[in-house]
Amino acid sequence: MRILVTGGCGFIGTNYIRRLLSHDPDAVVVNLDKLTYAGNPLNLDGAAEEFGARYRFVRGDIADAELLPRVLEEHGVEAVVNFAAETHVDRSIDDPAPFLTTNVLGTQNLLEASRRYGVEQFVHVSTDEVYGSLGPTGSFTEGTPLAPNSPYSASKASSDHLCRAYHMTYGFPVVITRCSNNYGPYQFPEKLIPLMLTKAENDEPLPVYGDGLNVRDWIYVLDHCLGVDLALRKGAPGEIYNFGADCEKTNLEVIRTLLQIVGKPESLITFVADRPGHDRRYAMGYDKARRELGFEPEYDFAEGMRETVAWYQNNRDWLENVRSGSYIDFMNRWYGERK
Ligand code: NAD
Ligand code: TYD
Repeated sequence: MRILVTGGCGFIGTNYIRRLLSHDPDAVVVNLDKLTYAGNPLNLDGAAEEFGARYRFVRGDIADAELLPRVLEEHGVEAVVNFAAETHVDRSIDDPAPFLTTNVLGTQNLLEASRRYGVEQFVHVSTDEVYGSLGPTGSFTEGTPLAPNSPYSASKASSDHLCRAYHMTYGFPVVITRCSNNYGPYQFPEKLIPLMLTKAENDEPLPVYGDGLNVRDWIYVLDHCLGVDLALRKGAPGEIYNFGADCEKTNLEVIRTLLQIVGKPESLITFVADRPGHDRRYAMGYDKARRELGFEPEYDFAEGMRETVAWYQNNRDWLENVRSGSYIDFMNRWYGERK
């Protein structure tokens, strides 16, 4: 199968491409990535040597209406997996506009080009954040009404609606996946786990928003990749599939686990001003994916966290490489305001 993967130089896209090319000898991947601050070509360094012509890279924007038809045609694309997005909630609060350009207009542009070209399966990778925030009990299902609370989640919900509309209006074969919070290798160090890990290793204060009791439902990135792959091969057009791994943790629990692994004191924890509109709790129900796709997460949290910490400790050059330029500017501005 010839698959266009968008956003393949980001965290999940990188893990997905590496996994796909290693597991499926018939897969040919075209990775289309704009290389924003979050996209790092080094993530797939060596892929062309390792996988030969089965891996191709095109630098480009999913919102570029002229480029996409050419890419689809040139590579004879049969399926699309859309990871490309602006993804950091805090950045969406700081400046929502790029989130609408890429996540909404970019997704529509990709849907349109794919429909016109005759793509046979389109997987749109979305998030549990479109469902909004839960009280102390219950979990999201695919039928939970969308109630996004951040510019990021509102832009993802909009793109999900466009996918639905393309299916209902044009019969376009699009599947939406929604996953809970991912962690693992290659995650950009603005997100909770790699941010706290790198700060703890440098003995810097760990900026915990609010009371630290917000709950996220964690999944190891390769389990999410497994789910996306099942959706690509077995997902029914027009359907939505949730993925999770039954791993609800407060932010403080996650940070304490990290501190234990790296042997650093809890006195590094510092409470800072809360994130505006901060969702209190996410919990993902994924019975449908289990039943209809045979999805079963493989990693437990302790194992996944050990692997994640080991990866960051063995890839200090990667961290230094990504922590530059706009990363520093944003971090200084955002955390400077939260003290
Ligand atoms: P990321 O920020 O690490 O990577 C995003 C990638 O998309 C980068 O390589 C970036 O260069 C690329 N990109 C951005 N704008 C682009 C554009 N206009 N055209 C082409 N490429 C562009 O993100 P991630 O954490 O890997 O998330 C990937 C997808 O999974 C996103 O759609 C996100 O909403 C979704 N998701 C993420 C999580 C999570 O916990 N990280 C959970 C559920 C769903
Ligand atoms: P994040 O990794 O940004 O993922 P999301 O907001 O998409 O769930 O944040 C995970 C949780 O960690 C969320 O409740 C916000 C919290 N958090 C902090 O307390 N401090 C921080 O510096 C960051 C980045 C996140």
